[in-house]
Amino acid sequence: MIRIAAVGDVHVDKDVVGRYRPALEQLPDRADALLIAGDLTRHGTPDEAKCFATEFGGLAVPVVVVLGNHDHQSDQQQQVTEVLTDAGITVLECSSTVLEINGHRLGIAGAKGFGGGFAGACASNFGEREMKDFVGTTEDIADRLGESLRSVRCDALVALTHYAPVPETLAGEPLEIYPFLGCYQLGNAIDSAPTALALHGHAHHGSERGRTPGGVPVRNVAHPVIKQAYNVYQLLSETVDSQLVPA
Ligand SMILES: [Fe+2]
Ligand SMILES: [Fe+2]
Repeated sequence: MIRIAAVGDVHVDKDVVGRYRPALEQLPDRADALLIAGDLTRHGTPDEAKCFATEFGGLAVPVVVVLGNHDHQSDQQQQVTEVLTDAGITVLECSSTVLEINGHRLGIAGAKGFGGGFAGACASNFGEREMKDFVGTTEDIADRLGESLRSVRCDALVALTHYAPVPETLAGEPLEIYPFLGCYQLGNAIDSAPTALALHGHAHHGSERGRTPGGVPVRNVAHPVIKQAYNVYQLLSETVDSQLVPA
């Protein structure tokens, strides 16, 4: 069995440092890895990234993250990535990593993702150059996430994104903003590989549970949704389930 702790949208700045740490100190007893689904910071500055690294770095388990849209706000995502990498945190962007856990190989492929909407209510690659660029970005990221997922050799495969791959986990958000919260192309990418679990954030007012059209369990782990420091999901066990861990 592999136990994955997951959270997203922790939005760390100076005033947040210390809020998660007590629960994180107990994490190694409860989970084998920590995955964080983007929006690590408020405005994507290197200083905020240092605060995030202080809060989430130096744990006894591997920490794997993707960036979110907030982590791009200052156009310093490269510097943010370097701060995190220097702190021993693995940052995925259309890439993958494999962790050896309890004799099993846990594969994680991750990407920030992008918006675009879902079947019947989505942007299309047609018309103005700006619209083609928007949808082109969506499709490019989803295509590269799919390639990353399909190329991992592992016993259990997890997809980690910031944007949502399905609309079910957006329930609670205004319908009008669904196209800015995720896109169906991410769901297709997840379904193109033997993915066991898909984790995302971004939708602070959404719902925890959903499923891709291909049947992959999807969990929105945005902190305002799960309302605790992290949820724990079990892989290579009977069910993918969450075990409540007090924040
Ligand atoms: Fe967020
Ligand atoms: Fe976000």
